Amino acid sequence: MTTEMSDTASNYDPAIVFDPATGLNPQAYYKMARAIGSVLPGPFGGHQVMTHESVEWVLQHPELFSSSMEAVDLGQTVPLIPLQVDPPDHSKYRKLLDPIFAPKKMNALEPDVTAMVNGLIDQFIDTGSCEFTTDISVPLPSQVFLRLLGLPLSELDMFLGMKTGILHPPGDDIDEMMKNQHTSAADVERYFTEALGERRRKPADDILSMFLAAEVDGAKLTDDEILGICFLFIIAGLDTVTDTLECFFSYLAQHPDQQARIVADPTIIPSAVEELLRWETPVTGVSRVATQDTEIFGCPVHAGEGINPTLGSANTDETFLPDAYIVDLARNPKHFAFGVGVHRCLGSHLARLELRTTLREWHKRIPAYSIVPGTELKVSYGLRQFESLPLVFG
Ligand code: HEM
Repeated sequence: MTTEMSDTASNYDPAIVFDPATGLNPQAYYKMARAIGSVLPGPFGGHQVMTHESVEWVLQHPELFSSSMEAVDLGQTVPLIPLQVDPPDHSKYRKLLDPIFAPKKMNALEPDVTAMVNGLIDQFIDTGSCEFTTDISVPLPSQVFLRLLGLPLSELDMFLGMKTGILHPPGDDIDEMMKNQHTSAADVERYFTEALGERRRKPADDILSMFLAAEVDGAKLTDDEILGICFLFIIAGLDTVTDTLECFFSYLAQHPDQQARIVADPTIIPSAVEELLRWETPVTGVSRVATQDTEIFGCPVHAGEGINPTLGSANTDETFLPDAYIVDLARNPKHFAFGVGVHRCLGSHLARLELRTTLREWHKRIPAYSIVPGTELKVSYGLRQFESLPLVFG
């Protein structure tokens, strides 16, 4: 398939999202796709929704576009809570979870996260280079997550293995991949069932014990509900931060002027986080399923069809932000990188803390860096994960 971005509808091939060029430079793909239409055919059937206006409209209508288990199958046997629960039940879970992930609670973790980032940097700084993926972006979110759930750090490798098995199952064909994904899903369910049993016998000061004690509408959460929440945390809270860190540092490593801007004025870091989230949109889109025959901006949609609101395209839509193709680290933009509507990201404050802290501590200690010459970057589309990101300092 060609990597050239065509601008005519008849030439539009939805499989372009699998082209390596799209993962590397999704912003060019979004621009080409929006020029063709607000709603385009999806790579697995269904529809991709491309403009700022249409993405927002779809996500504000959960009664028409559900995010139930039909929208995404990751091999688990229980619905992911609260993502795969539609309103009105959805809000009872957010009422319970929102206070646990509130900005104040997350910001209290800042000293710990700062120590974790520095601990990781300590391990490679003297060598003058690092493999950003294995040295920082993969271990950091899992360390933070284990700390949050009160699980031992010694379980990091096992944990990373289960997570990879769900999100990137190995296999030569789709059947083998699905089989491996289901095995990993069963491992995660078993792991958390055991951890819950332990907390029930001996409550601790952690989130798992909090879930066991919590009541929703006057009733305790069932084990299946707690499992659904924990499962979603692994899927939603680990690779997303990993991918975002990789997108940020790949961009900065290729833009020394922007690195210098952060080093000269670290107070722009919170705004730089928002602008880089907008520009890179590491979670390029989300999944929904139509609950009835309807239409999206004139495009007929049938009940049961898959719908993919493309957040990255919405974030670079020039009808919403005229200079969307300029990256201005001080502009502090509004964006959809954490989603829109009722399912907007529960962990956004935790993610922001991890991103802010990594940018701050890294630039204090490593003010100039670039990608190792000769590296051919490979980035997936969907969840924008880098196969490798070797950096050299100075
Ligand atoms: C930079 C990192 C992150 C990005 C880009 C991100 C992105 C998103 C997006 C786009 C959604 C909307 C999904 C949809 O509408 O279908 C979402 C939902 C969610 N995210 Fe995040 N996320 C990040 C980090 C986290 C973290 C650290 C957690 C930790 C627990 C988390 C937990 C969740 C949960 C539970 C939901 C579902 C919320 C609901 O259905 O009400 N996310 N996230």
